[in-house]
Amino acid sequence: MSDNESTTLTPLAQAASIPVPPADELAGRFPLHPNPTPVTDQQREEHLASLSFGTVFSDHMAYARFTDGQWQSHSVVPYGPIALSPAASVLHYGQEVFEGIKAYRHEDGSIWTFRPRYNAARFNASARRLALPELCEDDFVASLVDLVRADAQWVPSAPGSSLYLRPFMFASEAFLGVKPAHTVDYYVIASPSGAYFKGGFTPVSIWVTTDYHRAGRGGTGAAKTSGNYAASLLPQQQAYDNDCDQVCFLDDVTQTTIEELGGMNLFVVDTDGTIRTPRLTGTILEGGTRSAIITLLTSKGYTVKEDTIILSELTAQLQAGTIAEIFACGTAAVVTPVGRLKSETFDLEVPVGELTPQIHRTLTDIQYGRVEDPFGWMYKIC
Ligand code: COI
Repeated sequence: MSDNESTTLTPLAQAASIPVPPADELAGRFPLHPNPTPVTDQQREEHLASLSFGTVFSDHMAYARFTDGQWQSHSVVPYGPIALSPAASVLHYGQEVFEGIKAYRHEDGSIWTFRPRYNAARFNASARRLALPELCEDDFVASLVDLVRADAQWVPSAPGSSLYLRPFMFASEAFLGVKPAHTVDYYVIASPSGAYFKGGFTPVSIWVTTDYHRAGRGGTGAAKTSGNYAASLLPQQQAYDNDCDQVCFLDDVTQTTIEELGGMNLFVVDTDGTIRTPRLTGTILEGGTRSAIITLLTSKGYTVKEDTIILSELTAQLQAGTIAEIFACGTAAVVTPVGRLKSETFDLEVPVGELTPQIHRTLTDIQYGRVEDPFGWMYKIC
């Protein structure tokens, strides 16, 4: 086995393997203040019948505030606008981190989520990088439990749908000095969602930008923070302008190696069966779906390499026919085949193979409870 094959658990994967207390034990840490004016059953059913991604929100949101050196006011409150000082530090300096995690309805009506401690641990890793206070991991999971239990009727049951949960925290202290805030607000909002891409499980096209980078050495690339996504928006617009769905970034030092997409990790399948994904260099987000796919494929006997993937070599391999498939993955989009790779200097078709739909199927079968979960990834909320 070579040095870069996946043999050891990263700290996040290690954290994710520590069991979370059962939901009944965590429930109630964020007491419910019911929304006096929830949407009607009919309105909710209408929303659930025509799902897109991240446009409709449930009746409640979880909340806590960090002030005087501790987290307090844990609650689930009616969903609604947030009152914020125009001087709130986040509006000026972007001190914010977030997560993405889903609640899935199983056929028997029960509701589950996927590796919540992974997201809890990553949230805190991001918080440390952004000089934000950490949130106790069990409280992170408790906030999901209490919110989903309050809004259980918002968890859709259509195939491929879920309640997308967006935990986030930000510097709410009103001051213009450039220093870490002492007052920080934490929220979780919930959005019943269908497929992230309008086309569903159809190949996406990727624009490789050579003009912009998502992150640099020592920067915030490994953190899930708004600034990384803000930096991806102009190149993402470039991708649209070039008739592509997503943008892919190269490393900022050599400008030759593939890092990740605007909001997803990338995998390359060679025709010899080897699977490669860009190794974690500190500028790449350690995606939960990326981590699960590595575990899944390794357990099936595939060789998965976290590797340096050089763009010029990849394009040469595509031209030589030694690439079987390329796919992207993330919580929101799950697993998506890549059908085209394009930049200023090339425009290449990517073969569509069988492994990508297989991985998508295996992962979603576990998430939706259609098969046994051999990895202990699923966590029952109610
Ligand atoms: C996710 O996949 O959950 C993400 O956070 C990516 C994107 C929607 C921002």
